[in-house]
Amino acid sequence: MKTLLISFALAASALASAVPSSGFSSSCPASERVLVETHNVTAGGHEFQVSTKACSAEILAAHSAQESKELQKRQTFDSCVGETMTFGCFGAGAGPTLADCTALSSAMVAAFEQPGQPILFTVLAGFVQEFSHGTCLYAWINENPAGTVTLQYCYSSVSQDLGLTAANNCLPRGDLGGFATASNPQLIPASLDWVFEVVHS
Ligand SMILES: *[C@@H]1O[C@H](CO)[C@@H](O)[C@H](O)[C@H]1NC(C)=O
Repeated sequence: MKTLLISFALAASALASAVPSSGFSSSCPASERVLVETHNVTAGGHEFQVSTKACSAEILAAHSAQESKELQKRQTFDSCVGETMTFGCFGAGAGPTLADCTALSSAMVAAFEQPGQPILFTVLAGFVQEFSHGTCLYAWINENPAGTVTLQYCYSSVSQDLGLTAANNCLPRGDLGGFATASNPQLIPASLDWVFEVVHS
């Protein structure tokens, strides 16, 4: 732990003059997101936040207008299977602590991955599902054009495959965050894209 803190401090001071990037996604930057709903969950000895956001005020306004007319039948895809994933790290600086990300992942397992609980969560196109604890934020972004396909994704992949993999690969190196992108060529249309980020909350 001491080694981790030292390497973060060095990376942060080396880039003190750089403007920190707030995340990996360019189509859904953290600074533009608008909160739709948030609540706290306590599980596994930790409290964490679960938040739904729109990628921009414009997307939220368009969505609200559409909803108020009538519930539209949208295509929904389970994108938790058959994906091609790409992992990477980005930026340098004060990323989240690995300890907070590890705590977030284990709390998510306790909260969402017990027998009888829903395996999937649902994210509209142009929206984000966020999970955060302390310094650590997991963001799962449906990057498809607003108003198009709704995606479903599994909690267990966010907590383990994406969250822990990205955190363990990127944070000890002093990176600002980690990401995973995916597209699923087995589905039509083939551009059912999502982006996952682990970043400082
Ligand atoms: C939810 O968690 C946040 C962050 O830890 C905290 O500031 C807030 O007070 C909590 N809200 C409730 C209702 O406990």
